[in-house]
Amino acid sequence: LNILVLHGPNLNLLGQREPGVYGSATLEDINRLLETEAKALQVKVSVLQSNHEGVLVDTIHGARDQHSGILINAGAYTHTSVAIRDAIAGVNIPTVEVHLSNIYRREPFRHHSYIAAIAVGQISGFGPDSYRLGLQALVHHLRQNQP
Ligand code: DQA
Repeated sequence: LNILVLHGPNLNLLGQREPGVYGSATLEDINRLLETEAKALQVKVSVLQSNHEGVLVDTIHGARDQHSGILINAGAYTHTSVAIRDAIAGVNIPTVEVHLSNIYRREPFRHHSYIAAIAVGQISGFGPDSYRLGLQALVHHLRQNQP
């Protein structure tokens, strides 16, 4: 299995960005954790971070023939982007949504996710562990639903 991991806007600033909310781990730390988990699960991960909605949409389209699942933290686009939701629905690749913070304990504008309704599921609030748990859940889902 080859999993596409997408990090959305501002996640390149992790470590420096609002550490009270997002913690001290950098994006590199998170990618390293994902690599370790991928090895344990015997899957491959391809990782991309972008601050641009269109780049994320194009990358999701490009996943069609190469990736069997998508793990995404769409950052603020979670709450705004019909385009990213439609891209995921359009390629029909099982997707798990993750967030470092618990979006439901925060401002009301973060309580709605455009992605949640077309995702397999969502993990929110466990810091970098959200990604690890999300990868596990996605891989288990894909293996259970393999023909
Ligand atoms: C986030 C939560 C979003 O509301 C926010 O815009 C982010 C990060 C998280 O991982 O907790 O950029 O997706």
